[in-house]
Amino acid sequence: MVRVPTGPVHTVVFARHTLEGELVRLRITEVRPRFCRGEVIEVVEASPLRRPAPCPIAARCGGCDFQHVGPAHSRELKRQVVAELLQHSAGVNFTGEVEAVQPDEFGWRTRMRFLTDAQGLVGLRAHRSNDLVPLPAEGCRIANPAISRPRPTGVTGGVEVVAAAASSGSITGPADELPDSVTEHVGERDFEVSPAGFWQSHTAAPDTLTHAVRQALAPRSGEAAFDLFCGVGLFAATLLDAGCRVWGIEGDARAVAFARRNVPGARFSVGDVARALRRLPARTDLVVLDPPRSGAGAQVMRAIASRRPRAIAYVACDPASLARDLSTAAALGYATTSVRAFDLFPMTHHVECLALLEPDGAARVVQIPPLEGEDGSPPAASVKP
Ligand SMILES: C[S@@+](CC[C@H](N)C(=O)[O-])C[C@H]1O[C@@H](n2cnc3c(N)ncnc32)[C@H](O)[C@@H]1O
Repeated sequence: MVRVPTGPVHTVVFARHTLEGELVRLRITEVRPRFCRGEVIEVVEASPLRRPAPCPIAARCGGCDFQHVGPAHSRELKRQVVAELLQHSAGVNFTGEVEAVQPDEFGWRTRMRFLTDAQGLVGLRAHRSNDLVPLPAEGCRIANPAISRPRPTGVTGGVEVVAAAASSGSITGPADELPDSVTEHVGERDFEVSPAGFWQSHTAAPDTLTHAVRQALAPRSGEAAFDLFCGVGLFAATLLDAGCRVWGIEGDARAVAFARRNVPGARFSVGDVARALRRLPARTDLVVLDPPRSGAGAQVMRAIASRRPRAIAYVACDPASLARDLSTAAALGYATTSVRAFDLFPMTHHVECLALLEPDGAARVVQIPPLEGEDGSPPAASVKP
């Protein structure tokens, strides 16, 4: 039996589906040198903030871990995590709230990955496992209603079934049987994207994030702008529409092919951002970066800082990686001047952040050392602000 602590801890046990101050009975599922993981067997003393999970498979499914807490307190928990990580790792004081985005509980997910069972029925993966949890009769509550209850597929035995609720309509099937692309409508633009490729999960995320990025950067006509980790060109389009000259980099060649069609006025390169950045101009005014959960890393942050942009918009789905990269940026002369957080993954602990970085005014020399494994060729840029 474990009391979920409200203060300092000696042994860290990650236990999904608990709340601060509760007394719970746990089954320890994993023991590591510095932490354990546990599953709640019984809540002996419940928090007044606990509610019954709206979804009957919430305890087993790997998708949602905040079903037992309502949206307002869920956002408060995420605010605490963002504030603590940014303060602890980057010395950044986050004083904002996690902003609600509608829909903020059910029906928000535009992409789902189901699994088939031996009868061809679809279910969801269990937490940290490939075991199948059968879908309840009402389907997945967080999925867009068009894809929340896929019909039996005729494909049996552990096959992944992708479902996409796109502006052009919804489709469901094994990834290799889906059409090449679906169309997503954002503002005045259409974006072609592979149904199994990356697209922002929350139905309102593209509008919310492009608006927030544009507000943060205040792009001016004629400015040079980079969209790094650009996918099919979502932020590149925003920057181009603001009159910027735009360069994008993305590792997925199919996404770049779509980006070139979606945003023909921008220039796109395929490749690892750390390497492909060397082919982009040595100066830029603006940078948007939207890396995967692992973050951009020090090499990319150095290559960005060396271009001396007047503003950097860092879109992050993992506040821990963001905090690490903000700390690197601070050492390179870029201060975090504002942070916003958005509840773009309701019913889960995930949160999307947008940080604005601007030069802190202190003179620095930023040099880019050769990448590991490269032949020691001279750095692409060496800049003294
Ligand atoms: C969070 S998504 C953002 C995509 C795009 N900005 C959008 O909003 O649609 C991250 C993207 O980075 C790409 N990616 C991941 N690691 C990369 C790397 N090392 N170099 C280039 N692209 C990478 C992924 O393929 C994915 O498209």
